[in-house]
Amino acid sequence: MDKILTCKDLNRSYSIGKTTLEVLKGVSLEVTTGETLSIMGESGSGKSTLLHVLGGLDSPKEGSVHFNNQSIYGMYTARRAKFRAENVGFVFQSFHLLSELDIVENVALPAMAKRSKGDAKTRARELLDQVGLSDRVGHRPQELSGGEQQRVAMARALMNEPDIIFCDEPTGNLDSKTGEKVLNYLFQLVEARRHTLVLVTHSQEVASRCSRELFLKDGRLV
Ligand SMILES: Nc1ncnc2c1ncn2[C@@H]1O[C@H](COP(=O)(O)OP(=O)(O)OP(=O)(O)O)[C@@H](O)[C@H]1O
Ligand SMILES: [Mg+2]
Repeated sequence: MDKILTCKDLNRSYSIGKTTLEVLKGVSLEVTTGETLSIMGESGSGKSTLLHVLGGLDSPKEGSVHFNNQSIYGMYTARRAKFRAENVGFVFQSFHLLSELDIVENVALPAMAKRSKGDAKTRARELLDQVGLSDRVGHRPQELSGGEQQRVAMARALMNEPDIIFCDEPTGNLDSKTGEKVLNYLFQLVEARRHTLVLVTHSQEVASRCSRELFLKDGRLV
């Protein structure tokens, strides 16, 4: 099977004053195209850090990340940003929606550079429809519930039809019923389009929906 993403011996530490906190201590991973992978681990174990490094958002101190055999940290920053915009969808732990924009504009944003504004908004409306939000299109994020905002963030991550989607605790801020609903939308979209999914979660139930489950412990994946 084709490997869409591989990382080798990733190390990432944070310096706080004179102390260094080693978060990732030699993480290696291969992700097969089309698989759904969950990563669990205690709070503070480095799951968000790992997701950011894998998604091209945060360079590791050591180690490499290859996406379809291209080294993403071997690229110049501008090229990596373009590469990310075209290939990667990211749903952040906090949604990072823009409060000045309505939800159609939020979803359309990643495509504004390469599509006409009208085209981008048409696709944004389609995606919002697919996550059950067609009746809220004129609204701004702060007028929506947490679960609804999370669905907007998912629609935005899918805007450019990325090959791989990273989700950082997509149901972390939601009650279990809303979480279930959001997750159903996510898996429907992922399966229909055969996206590859890497998902961080604290919930065993959520993790079980993925085709493979990993744990981050003491800076390593097990
Ligand atoms: N910018 C930063 N500067 C310093 N330390 C940081 C920074 N970001 C994260 N850390 C530390 O690195 C460790 C890992 O953080 P990370 O956010 O990756 O954990 P996590 O597994 O995602 O936790 P949670 O489940 O609570 O989201 C934590 O101890 C955190 O305090
Ligand atoms: Mg986190």
